[in-house]
Amino acid sequence: MRHLPIDSALFANHRKRLADRLPHGAIAFANANDVLPTNADGTLPLHPNSDLFYLSGIEQEESILLLFPSASNPKHREILFLRKPNEQLKIWEGHKHDKEEGATISGIRSIHWVNEFDDIMQQLASEGEIFYFNENEHSRAGKTVETRDQRFNQKLQRDYPLHRVERLAPHLHDLRFCKDREEIKLIKQAIEVTERGFRKTLRMIKPGVTEFQVEAEWAKEFIRRRCKFAYTPIVASGSNACVLHYLRNDQTCKKGDLLLMDVGACYANYNADLTRTIPVSGKFSRRQKQVYNAVLRVLRQSIDNATIGKSLKEWQNDSHHMMTEEMLRLKLITQAQVKKQDPDQPACRKFYMHGLGHSLGLDVHDVSNGQSVFRENSVFTVEPGIYLPDEGFGVRLEDNIQITKNGPANLMSKIPIEAEEIEQIMNR
Ligand code: GLY
Ligand code: MN
Ligand code: MN
Repeated sequence: MRHLPIDSALFANHRKRLADRLPHGAIAFANANDVLPTNADGTLPLHPNSDLFYLSGIEQEESILLLFPSASNPKHREILFLRKPNEQLKIWEGHKHDKEEGATISGIRSIHWVNEFDDIMQQLASEGEIFYFNENEHSRAGKTVETRDQRFNQKLQRDYPLHRVERLAPHLHDLRFCKDREEIKLIKQAIEVTERGFRKTLRMIKPGVTEFQVEAEWAKEFIRRRCKFAYTPIVASGSNACVLHYLRNDQTCKKGDLLLMDVGACYANYNADLTRTIPVSGKFSRRQKQVYNAVLRVLRQSIDNATIGKSLKEWQNDSHHMMTEEMLRLKLITQAQVKKQDPDQPACRKFYMHGLGHSLGLDVHDVSNGQSVFRENSVFTVEPGIYLPDEGFGVRLEDNIQITKNGPANLMSKIPIEAEEIEQIMNR
């Protein structure tokens, strides 16, 4: 792990909150993600499982967490199963957690090797009544590849067909939606490194620079500061900015272009998600600035609108109303179009086709299924945009906010966003 050690109290707290929700006899499980194969004998780097990390701090492959809060034997209430280290593993893959390390990271006292799982499970099964199985229940989760959780759940159901089964995900989504102080600190750390990356790129972007050279600048700043990319970065010049999931980053930035950068750092599995749009030559054209400032006004008002209890749907709809006004002024749409628009598909959607924001945390599009309002200490992105392929540019601006009792707190308030400030820094 590149990140500094995290106090295990964070994970113990999360386990306690989950345990408080589980009925007598419940046994909950969370599994590591698989190391996914590529071609030949290649594999992708392991992406830690967010739920397992949330509950234990463990990022190592093949780990299993078992929580049985009502177990009569205190040693059975929390058990962490780890891959047993051996000489071969040590030579080929390097160090794996020993039991002491597993205990230090997670704060769990009962640590076993994963090959002991079946025997221990058999001891516990007669006392346990309900299995809480985990599953990726994000509303847009990819379903083409079977996960370790799914294989595990199927095996346990075969071994214990008479046990009741419940879903763990709704509980974890609800718990993970609101962040605690330590989690906010880690998100702020990711944001701070993201800010450093942005300031670095402002100094090197000019006509003739390629999108991949810009990407490399971000990568250097992130990696040297114990971070990685939170998601595949979007570095999109000119009309590439209108491709919402542009990932090629292979074009040359030209004079007069805008460059949209949607890039965030991930620190200790907590993510930042920033978008800035800047002029390649250090100066916005009149039209570019008009569109830019329209997006900036919608961003700022949308941040102000993000208060505890506000409905997420209403928040999004409010942004449609603001965008409609802005687009009328920009002469992108007409009053006549607005008058006859389908309220479910307003005219502004032609140039602003994505959502206004999403929950942010251990996942970039963080789990929040079933959440319909902002809650205290939920963390959100706010990311309005206007995309004009016919004019050869798109503008998106994205900040990350924490919803607090005193209103929304912009966690990215120090990252330059005023058009004039960006011009100034670029021309220094
Ligand atoms: N970077 C992904 C997003 O903005 O949602
Ligand atoms: Mn983004
Ligand atoms: Mn986002």
